[in-house]
Amino acid sequence: MGKLSSILNPVTFLVMNLGVCAILWVGGIQVNVGELTQGQVMAFVNYMTQTLTSIVYVANLVVVFTKASASASRINEVLNCVPSITDEDNQPVALPKPGNVAPVPALSLSHASFSFGAGAANAVNDVTLELPLGKTLGIIGGTGSGKSTLVSLIPRLYDAGTGSVSVMGADVRTWPLDQLRHVVATVPQRASLVPQRASLVSGTIRSNLTWRDEAATDEELWAALDMAQANEFVRNKPQGLDAPVEAGGKNFSGGQRQRLTIARALVARHRS
Ligand SMILES: Nc1ncnc2c1ncn2[C@@H]1O[C@H](COP(=O)(O)OP(=O)(O)O)[C@@H](O)[C@H]1O
Ligand SMILES: [Mg+2]
Repeated sequence: MGKLSSILNPVTFLVMNLGVCAILWVGGIQVNVGELTQGQVMAFVNYMTQTLTSIVYVANLVVVFTKASASASRINEVLNCVPSITDEDNQPVALPKPGNVAPVPALSLSHASFSFGAGAANAVNDVTLELPLGKTLGIIGGTGSGKSTLVSLIPRLYDAGTGSVSVMGADVRTWPLDQLRHVVATVPQRASLVPQRASLVSGTIRSNLTWRDEAATDEELWAALDMAQANEFVRNKPQGLDAPVEAGGKNFSGGQRQRLTIARALVARHRS
């Protein structure tokens, strides 16, 4: 299509100017013979250019339509694509009640590997770990070492190629996706390629914090803000939880934005 459209304009202008040449050539002879006046030849040249300019517009329309149909078929490809990650027939996982904690690991990986494409090196290679409830795990590594990819395996944004990933003792492939993604909250870094970006939308602090649980009470919101160490700057706002947030959280600093998104992930953590 690029080749076609790059050739279309020069060709139409070439035809147009060849036409003008032909009219002048033939018309000149006719004027000499006395069949035509010079004015008639000039009028003819003008009519001809006007007509051909309109034809150029139509030719450009063809280009626009070709582009549109090429784009449309690509968009349809995306819309018709069937996700390979499905949760059909998965039954809700029974979670241990608080206080009656069964001895299942909150998270366990068993020889989990993941690669971004056939032939590509493993981004996550044979990871085995077990994280008991209530414990914290930090993963440190250079850029591109697979930290974000490892985290994406937990809410099942990707399926491990080999090995398995389990949350609360159940393989993530057996969880209903809605429930899994309610239990697992992620706070991506702003510029990351992870599908969900850490973003704030215009509204109030409250409306940004209650995405995961619309019924969250003020105490729950303050507890989440406390844990994310965001309570201080929110308390300093005269409107508190109802302080306005601009699109993208522009009226907050980078660190404050990050803390608010962490607080959002912590809301509803007891209600899964
Ligand atoms: N969507 C993707 N498609 C292909 N390769 C990717 C994709 N995301 C990450 N990678 C590759 O996987 C490796 C691990 O990336 P990542 O998990 O984002 O690293 P980290 O978070 O530790 O900086 C890198 O080599 C990166 O190039
Ligand atoms: Mg990363």
